[in-house]
Amino acid sequence: MNVLIIGSGGREDALGQKIAESSLSPSLFFLPGNGGTGRYGTNIPGSVMDITGTIAACREHSIDYVVVAPDDPLAAGMVDALKGAGIPAFGPDRRAARIESSKSFAKDLMHKYSIPTASYEVFTDSASAIEYASAQDYPLVIKADGLALGKGVIIAESRKEAEDAIRSMMDDDAFGDAGRKIVIEEFLTGPEVTVLSFTDGKTIVPMVSSMDHKRALDGDEGLNTGGMGVIAPNPFFTDSIAAECMDRIFLPTIRAMEMEGCPFSGCLYFGLMLTPDGPKVIEYNSRFGDPEAEAILPLLDSDLLQIMQSVTDGRLADADVKWKKLSSCCVVAASGGYPGKYEKGKEISVGDIWDSRLFIAGAAEKNGKLATSGGRVLSVCSLAKSLPEAIDKAYRAMEHIHFDGMFYRKDIGKRALEALNGV
Ligand code: AMP
Ligand code: GLY
Repeated sequence: MNVLIIGSGGREDALGQKIAESSLSPSLFFLPGNGGTGRYGTNIPGSVMDITGTIAACREHSIDYVVVAPDDPLAAGMVDALKGAGIPAFGPDRRAARIESSKSFAKDLMHKYSIPTASYEVFTDSASAIEYASAQDYPLVIKADGLALGKGVIIAESRKEAEDAIRSMMDDDAFGDAGRKIVIEEFLTGPEVTVLSFTDGKTIVPMVSSMDHKRALDGDEGLNTGGMGVIAPNPFFTDSIAAECMDRIFLPTIRAMEMEGCPFSGCLYFGLMLTPDGPKVIEYNSRFGDPEAEAILPLLDSDLLQIMQSVTDGRLADADVKWKKLSSCCVVAASGGYPGKYEKGKEISVGDIWDSRLFIAGAAEKNGKLATSGGRVLSVCSLAKSLPEAIDKAYRAMEHIHFDGMFYRKDIGKRALEALNGV
């Protein structure tokens, strides 16, 4: 069976490593893949946004099944086109992917179906947005409606900051079309939890909960990034909170999508905040998170490819989805300067990392060696019986990896440990 994974990050490497373990013995292909995915698959050159080219590549390589991992091709209708060409694909179609690609669609959906989220207003002109913002309490959250590489959210501390953010998004096109429409919402507080889930549109099976660390520097300082490390499970996400989320958020969301005529099939990502008034949705994503996938997929004790096929075929209710009773810690190593400007082409050396897993993200092969080619370069994921052991293992492994300018956060999991210890 030939399986194509679309994308080029650490998430795609993690998906590939897990799918490679499948009892269906797949041959793996990546489009375009990275310097790591060539270890156990064939990289096909191309762009994830080139739908026609991707279908041609599927025909050339006799691809039987496609996993569309990144948000942009999902939002552009890659899954619709593949299915139209008779190629089964994991991921939502274009209409269902709006749950991530349009924040106003997601907010209106939650409002209509009483799914708990921050109160909000949607604006299409800056003058009304500024007038509304001037009458609100601060901090205030300003979000570009469309996909903005994780940078489209601004927490404004004052009227001036809100006005600047609104003008830059709506009048100065800081995020292009993505910011022509904006959502302004109430600022919520509480621990954040990510829950990824498998869903075929009728059945939803949450994966192990996790905690991402989005800021670049220790102590949640510095700029927002795609994610600098993840621990799983998330100790804030207790069994009773999980049950409440299932009743009030997870099931209502997939039912709402079905009622709207766009059932969601694929991996639905719930970004939650556990507020004093209960869990609320901060964001939905229409895909596996990165680096959440790198921390969570190694905990899966079932056949990922078979689960994905059951999702695509609408028979997730019959699938076997089991998890290892272990904790996981994933630490990301980035190029100096990320998420701002950084240099590329630095040679990477990887020593003994024992049984920890190495996932390659922004690195390419150069003269038979691995060299940096992106901001988030690689990650290490370690599993252990307890969270402190998993964290310790991941950091010990990281000491055996080097490249010029490399940096990583030293406090991944610290907040979770404090929660476990009742601090
Ligand atoms: P998003 O891209 O929507 O996940 O937002 C990025 C980050 O901004 C989230 O992980 C939160 O830390 C923060 N954020 C987003 N919306 C809110 C909100 N309504 N209140 C407080 N923080 C928020
Ligand atoms: N790590 C956050 C995301 O994938 O959106």
